[in-house]
Amino acid sequence: MFQSNSKIKSYALETYGCQMNVADSELVDGILKNIGLEKTEDLNNADAIFVNTCAIRDNAEKKIHSRLGNFYKLKQEKPHLIIGVLGCMAQNLKNDLLKNKPYVDIILGPDSYRNLPKLMNRHMVEKDSIVDTKLSRYEVYEDLFPKRNKEGINAWVSIMRGCDKFCSFCIVPFTRGRERSRSVESIVTEVKKAVDQGFVEITLLGQNVNSYKHENSSFAELLFAVSDINGVQRIRYTSPHPQDINVELLEVMASRKNICNYVHFPLQSGSNDILKRMNRTYTREHFHYMADKIREIMPDCGLSTDIIVGFPGETDRDFEETLDLMDKIKFNSAFTFKYSPRPYTKAEQFTDQIDEDIKKSRLDKLITLQREHTLELNTKKVGSIQNVLIEKESKKSSNHWAGRTDSNEWVIFEKKSSNIKDIVPVEIVNATGVILHGKEMVGA
Ligand code: 5AD
Ligand code: SF4
Repeated sequence: MFQSNSKIKSYALETYGCQMNVADSELVDGILKNIGLEKTEDLNNADAIFVNTCAIRDNAEKKIHSRLGNFYKLKQEKPHLIIGVLGCMAQNLKNDLLKNKPYVDIILGPDSYRNLPKLMNRHMVEKDSIVDTKLSRYEVYEDLFPKRNKEGINAWVSIMRGCDKFCSFCIVPFTRGRERSRSVESIVTEVKKAVDQGFVEITLLGQNVNSYKHENSSFAELLFAVSDINGVQRIRYTSPHPQDINVELLEVMASRKNICNYVHFPLQSGSNDILKRMNRTYTREHFHYMADKIREIMPDCGLSTDIIVGFPGETDRDFEETLDLMDKIKFNSAFTFKYSPRPYTKAEQFTDQIDEDIKKSRLDKLITLQREHTLELNTKKVGSIQNVLIEKESKKSSNHWAGRTDSNEWVIFEKKSSNIKDIVPVEIVNATGVILHGKEMVGA
């Protein structure tokens, strides 16, 4: 049990990185709420500060190091302050943290969150840094309910953890360990609970979400089961691997109205040589075929991607092949990255690393091309009517709503009688870059 007579009454938790981390932080919030700690947004009021970290690229780590410097200053004024590093960087950098940042009190890997109260106690007794970064083959936090955000629009539901794909650039298999999935029943129970709490959209999460496999249930079957739950208005999932996108899955998506018409389809590179060195297990031809298949089975499906430039050995020609495939497929949007060498990975060992200025100029070209494609595809939507889930007030005007289409584009439109969480028909009247502008169809 947590010592309730301790000085630790409140905590702050900062989250960096992917949606998995957002979901993990909600789990941690649930755990800390159970032991009676109060969450605060104000670091000056916190008796414990936790940072849930990301190790995917070097710049993500740099940001955390600088945050830790700030927390250290607070600790000098408040010696009882507990500083904890959680998640992927804890796993990856425990030795470095112990040696160079001895003021970090708790270092906790992604499979050890349930030990947090016990380790806080231990730290208060022993006054020493405590490390728990053991990876598990089984931990899926099946029985723990996350404490979700207040907005009540989208609920993240983690369905599997870890990754067995070992793409040669990626640190995730090392920081998050082996793949394991939760049971369909526990996921369905959690989704029902989220719906009862008023959430309208469910996003199923996993490092490799569509490798989900529990006993005999596949991801497609799970998706079907979730779409059958009363009151689930929208379902999304992220992040899939192209290898596990198959026709069975696409047909389930197409057949269910509440599964969004959107697929994140991470290309990484359009060159077969680079894909092979990345250990991505598909060719550019197969990827292209599947992208067409997605749009054939789900017309107007939103397609987004991830692309890395400057992977070791990437020649101008390899890069041109990426641009060429982008031109052929035309993604609705893309997350684009400069390759960042990561410890433990195979690609870090390659001797033909690419110069930073080449990476930068390739990234600029990629971004420019993607902007053209996004604008072109968005412009084609002008005149169409889209169902938009209202998520928030527009940042630029309190007279306007901002919401997302089924295929994941943001739309801004003037407020009428509708409210946040409503799904309303909106006529698209203009496209500016990534944003659509529309007019709500009242009485439609
Ligand atoms: N360098 C750059 N980008 C990376 N990603 C993963 N590892 C690296 C790395 N070492 C990107 C991939 C992945 C996304 C989540 O992050 O594109 O799909
Ligand atoms: Fe990383 Fe590849 Fe696993 Fe995605 S599939 S988490 S990119 S190793």
